[in-house]
Amino acid sequence: MSRAHGKVILLGEHAVVYGRPALAAGLSDGVVGEAKASEFPELLINPWGTRVRDTDEGELAKAFRAVLELFDKPSAVRVSLDVAIPAGAGLGCSAAMGVATVGALDEWHKTGRTKADLAAAGLVWEKVFHGNPSGVDNTIATHGGVAMFVKGEPIRPVRLSAPLHLVVAHSGESSSTKSMVDSVANQRGKNEERVDKVFDAIEALVRNAVNEVETGNLKHLGQLMDMNQALLSSLLLSTPEIETLCHKAREAGAFGAKLTGAGGGGCVVSLVDSDRSAAVIQALQAHSTQVFAAVVS
Ligand code: PMV
Repeated sequence: MSRAHGKVILLGEHAVVYGRPALAAGLSDGVVGEAKASEFPELLINPWGTRVRDTDEGELAKAFRAVLELFDKPSAVRVSLDVAIPAGAGLGCSAAMGVATVGALDEWHKTGRTKADLAAAGLVWEKVFHGNPSGVDNTIATHGGVAMFVKGEPIRPVRLSAPLHLVVAHSGESSSTKSMVDSVANQRGKNEERVDKVFDAIEALVRNAVNEVETGNLKHLGQLMDMNQALLSSLLLSTPEIETLCHKAREAGAFGAKLTGAGGGGCVVSLVDSDRSAAVIQALQAHSTQVFAAVVS
């Protein structure tokens, strides 16, 4: 069985597409993949009840084909994926599915692959859904943990002085990473200087956030997340529902809160003190379709 992590971007989404650093954390939940003998290549996705063959139309079949093409030998296998995170929510579901599919086929073919190779192989899947992925999702899906990621560079694991207690709340709206990334590209096409200044500011927040994680200054880390949320909002990536969730989380005592992933819907991540976790969850429940706590260590 192969396991891939879901992820939250603590700071730095979108800027990371343009070569800036992002700080991300793997979730313990994600996608588990398993390959078994079959007459023809097939992908089953539980619990969605989705079944695709490599010869089908559509993006999922195309992504599956792209992964099968990584292997020299024909893969007469059925890959079953158990997906434990919501899709279109900014939690890296698609990348985790890609990495778990490659991992399951690696086990089936007994391919010896390093983690770095597995993350790179997962990118072929991601590229089908989103033309210009930074690589942060497939990298964190593979490695887990907390890490600073820069496109094209080896992952830099970040040592935590204390576990991070997070509360993740779904706004109830799903969004397309591709269209949100395209929207930022359009804004940058119209005014490159303005958007690059926003990315400069985000980069400074990310670099400070790495220090705060290493020293365990959660209050400051939360403030940096709030500032990152304001900058993402200036790029039109927030929504009224996301703003409400951020506001309610802070009001209930979170150190900071922001959208995570592509925005335009999806999830809000809040950083909390372990003592405040239950209160923040309760405050968010009335405004969210799904709230859960996650601890990263
Ligand atoms: O929404 P998600 O989980 O696909 O995260 C996207 C993160 C972006 O920075 C917006 C895009 C990318 O490729 O890094």
